Amino acid sequence: MPFLGAALSFLMMMLLPGTEASGGTWCYATQDATCAPARWKVLAPQCGGVNQSPINVDRKTARRSNELDAFVFKGYNTAPAGAWSIVNSGHAVQVNLGSGISVSGAGLPAEYNALQFHFHWGKPDGNGSEHQLDGNWYPMEVHIVHMHSKYTDIKVAVTDPNGLAVLGFFFKVSDTDNSNYNTIIDGLQSVRYSGGSVDLASTFRLDSLLPSENLLSRYYRYWGSLTTPGCAEAVIWTVFEDPIPISSAQLNAFVNSVHFSASGKTEVKMQDNYRPVQALNSRRIYASKQASMSSSTSPALSSVLLFPLLAIRLL
Ligand SMILES: *[C@@H]1O[C@H](CO)[C@@H](O)[C@H](O)[C@H]1NC(C)=O
Ligand SMILES: [Zn+2]
Repeated sequence: MPFLGAALSFLMMMLLPGTEASGGTWCYATQDATCAPARWKVLAPQCGGVNQSPINVDRKTARRSNELDAFVFKGYNTAPAGAWSIVNSGHAVQVNLGSGISVSGAGLPAEYNALQFHFHWGKPDGNGSEHQLDGNWYPMEVHIVHMHSKYTDIKVAVTDPNGLAVLGFFFKVSDTDNSNYNTIIDGLQSVRYSGGSVDLASTFRLDSLLPSENLLSRYYRYWGSLTTPGCAEAVIWTVFEDPIPISSAQLNAFVNSVHFSASGKTEVKMQDNYRPVQALNSRRIYASKQASMSSSTSPALSSVLLFPLLAIRLL
């Protein structure tokens, strides 16, 4: 058995060349095919589960739920005392938050405390969101990760299907800078390489990063997973309808200045750090009370379109 163990670890090393330096055994396809998303289930079995994230939020199949009303945001509207660190994890850029920020309401079963937020993005002028809306990609997506208030340890929370609540927002390119992102974008220069970590120049109102308050009751809800290994199926997902505007120069600060690689190693730009969409399987997507439903949901319209197609097939 010791031989088998040694043989297995040798085999793993052969399968996963050069990933130790980035602090993990998984990566994105832009880094190395052998540890890319298609292979994650080999490293972490839950990544092959049936309730995985991200997904395409297809509004044609979503069901309206009037219980999905407004969120109660606590601590989102003040700049807290203390410091927030910005970190390059080798997989994403993450901002670690202090205590006192939470969400509840909006159909959540409890209050959820904010832990951190991080970004997924693409290549220059490319798409890099994890979720899609009606099959459309966006250039970037931010995830604000919250943990059920009854937990203090995320390792325990990820064993509960309701353990985490993640808020996902898309970005869209606008003509003008979004100055609310200046503190983070300035901070990127200090975390250009994996392992980099620094306190941001200041904290700020977390809601300043988001679309305006009247848009925050327009969202889609489903049960899914972490989008990185171990892919625990422990997340109540909220994907917001309205994207956050950011200029292309600001977007390119993420795309062009951050690296997967550690300082002093061969430089590999952090690009396309998103997981491809996963099958919905038997899950349902719910639209909040205020969210838009796709115009093509009309059954009358679909049968009008479908009927001639069926007729052609029968001929
Ligand atoms: C990005 O996604 C949009 C919408 O899905 C698509 O029209 C566009 O071609 C994509 N851009 C690139 C560079 O792939
Ligand atoms: Zn994420």
